[in-house]
Amino acid sequence: MTAAPTPPAPVDLNHNPHLSGVFAPQRREVSVAELPVTGVLPADLNGTYFRNGPNPRFDPIGTFVYPLDGDAMVHRVTLRDGAASYANRFVRTPMVVAEERAGHAIWAGITDLYTPGPELVGPELAGTSRELPDINVVAHAGKLLAMAESEQPYRLDPGDLATLGRDDCAGAMALGSTAHPKLDPRTGELVLFTYRLEPPYLAWSVVAPDGGLRRAPTPVDGVDEPIMVHDMALTERYIVLFLGPLIFDIPGMLNGGSLLDWRPGNGTGIALIPRDGSPVRWSHTEPFWVWHFANAHDDEQGRVVVDYVRWSYPGGLAEVAEEQRGGVERAVIDPESGAVRRTVLSDRFVEFPRIDDRLISRPHGTVATVSSGPGRNALVFLDPERDTEKVWNAGDLAVGEPVFLPGAEHDYWGAIATDPGDMSSRFHVLSAEDPAAGPIASIQLPQRVPAGLHGAWVGADSDVLDPP
Ligand SMILES: [Fe+2]
Repeated sequence: MTAAPTPPAPVDLNHNPHLSGVFAPQRREVSVAELPVTGVLPADLNGTYFRNGPNPRFDPIGTFVYPLDGDAMVHRVTLRDGAASYANRFVRTPMVVAEERAGHAIWAGITDLYTPGPELVGPELAGTSRELPDINVVAHAGKLLAMAESEQPYRLDPGDLATLGRDDCAGAMALGSTAHPKLDPRTGELVLFTYRLEPPYLAWSVVAPDGGLRRAPTPVDGVDEPIMVHDMALTERYIVLFLGPLIFDIPGMLNGGSLLDWRPGNGTGIALIPRDGSPVRWSHTEPFWVWHFANAHDDEQGRVVVDYVRWSYPGGLAEVAEEQRGGVERAVIDPESGAVRRTVLSDRFVEFPRIDDRLISRPHGTVATVSSGPGRNALVFLDPERDTEKVWNAGDLAVGEPVFLPGAEHDYWGAIATDPGDMSSRFHVLSAEDPAAGPIASIQLPQRVPAGLHGAWVGADSDVLDPP
């Protein structure tokens, strides 16, 4: 009988920038009503903002690779009749439940080769990896889903944020799902892709408006190695995927190398996947990387217009020099010839591009983004058609991803920001007409919300929220 493997040593929290300061995990779960507000909350804005992000339940062991590692914590800010409330809960995967029973971390990071044995976690969980539904939240067909990176999501109860269990959306997510599926506001469909370490390496599928299966996972032909693809864009005709040369190198990792290998010689492939199931249209360009798309649409000539944040290579997983960071770009892709024309919309280094989600797959107007770092914390609002830029300079505040807030009479943008001076967090509401003027209302949250990832606004009339 061989001895059980020894669990790895604890991660040094103080020397990991993504486990300390504004990123430090929040372990308290609270529900607080009637939050203090500076300014006046718009009376025409009723609904709930949900936000997800990596938040390890216990101090991690082994390694911690931001933004992929960590357990999920979902934060909820509800606005109703000019008042605000807040709650937060961990997403309780079987791993979080087992660790809570033990009182410490059992699973290591995703790049560690260690998995716990049956003596620690029992036969069912032995040899498993930590599940990580910590990237995004999506509301569709009456469900609130905590999304993982190309795994199945966890469904949450929007009322008490309790974890209801894993959900494959009637089989559409049987192989997993990107954390960034796109809800087509015209058809009500939730369109998604997933990538895998084994064939099929890439597949796409569609959830019907009622939550049923519209298209089962369908392999994307022409992909012959495991490749990482984080986000997608959607037009009325196509799913748009940019395949940067970031390859999963399992043999390399088993030999002590890194899990992901950047191979610029491969260039970046662009797949236009017709939503009617006809053959994929491919284009190829010089190598670059995209974490996030703003949006895409079909233009009158049948070309695909897509806006995104460009990186020279995948920063976030590695340090990226200032000059290697990209800006906001637009690509115009001709599906017939494969020709790609790329233009720079802004050379500011920003991330987390968001639009008015009601315009997904159609021309979108404003793209809201975040600029971060000393002296440049800001929300930056670009209008590519009008070639304008509006900036709310946030001073020292660490600002998170913006989200569009459609009110009954006016439109707004919202974002959580944390003051690194006193570690207080607020949900700021800005006028969509004049966001550069800064927040018209700031909700004092009852505790620090760690700097995190993606969120979603769910209007009070949505079937996802419990009736009041
Ligand atoms: Fe993302």
